[in-house]
Amino acid sequence: MNYDDIKDKTILVTGANRGIGKAIVESFIKHGAAKVYGAVRNLDSISSLVEQYGDRVVPIQVDLSDPQSIIAAAQTAKDVQVVVNNAGVFQAGSLMGDDAIATLKFQMNINVYGLIYMAQAFAPVLKANGGGVFAQINSVASLKSYSNSVTYCASKAAAYSITQALRELLNEQGTVVLSVHPGPIATDMGDAAGLTEIAEPPLLVAEGIIEALKTGDFHVFPDSMAKQIGSAYKSFAENVVEVSSS
Ligand SMILES: NC(=O)c1ccc[n+]([C@@H]2O[C@H](COP(=O)([O-])OP(=O)(O)OC[C@H]3O[C@@H](n4cnc5c(N)ncnc54)[C@H](OP(=O)(O)O)[C@@H]3O)[C@@H](O)[C@H]2O)c1
Repeated sequence: MNYDDIKDKTILVTGANRGIGKAIVESFIKHGAAKVYGAVRNLDSISSLVEQYGDRVVPIQVDLSDPQSIIAAAQTAKDVQVVVNNAGVFQAGSLMGDDAIATLKFQMNINVYGLIYMAQAFAPVLKANGGGVFAQINSVASLKSYSNSVTYCASKAAAYSITQALRELLNEQGTVVLSVHPGPIATDMGDAAGLTEIAEPPLLVAEGIIEALKTGDFHVFPDSMAKQIGSAYKSFAENVVEVSSS
């Protein structure tokens, strides 16, 4: 894939109604995407993007906690060539809190099981359409645990592990897999995580994906903090993670 491949392509983005997902929809349209399926829990929540971009944005219902909604979306969006699984949830909390297991279960359900259902449902669609791209929005928290949001970090670490397996598995069918690791980004989640002061624009994540499709990178570190962590991680990534295990 290269930059031009976004042009004229059909994309699906989960969590497309706000935050990073919305920025990805807008950026991909500006880079010439033919159509973006905005996968959202509530179809009304994406009406402003439909008003702005007309039939280039097609709302589709996906709740990552509802596997049937994912299967139905894959049956409808049969022409998808690029899937960005962006939707995710964040809950702060201490490992020693009474709610630690409950918050971990909640975040695993969306951030990890949702990813697995998305990959299972959309891998055959991408294969039928020539390979395409599956981009998973992970986090710097996939690589480093922060004790005030440890269950979120654990769920994003698990999602990263799944993404590595997808890279190998889907490579066989010609699907490019990206693991995207933003640092603090200015969204509702960024605010909820107390990152408002240091957060950077969500557009950086969208541009990071487009750049990675040009360079062929698996790991994407789109913002300043992510780049810093990515540069420290580079050797391990290249010499261990990106080396084929088969
Ligand atoms: N912001 C950051 O600092 C940051 C940093 C690193 C990684 N990330 C990752 O980036 C991704 C997007 O985060 P964001 O900052 O844009 O978050 P956000 O502003 O909180 O938006 C979250 C999006 O996910 C959707 N969503 C939540 N639960 C869902 C479910 N069960 N099924 C389908 N969609 C669901 C939300 O839809 P509703 O509007 O319906 O709730 C919303 O569109 C997440 O995977 C997050 O972990 C964020």
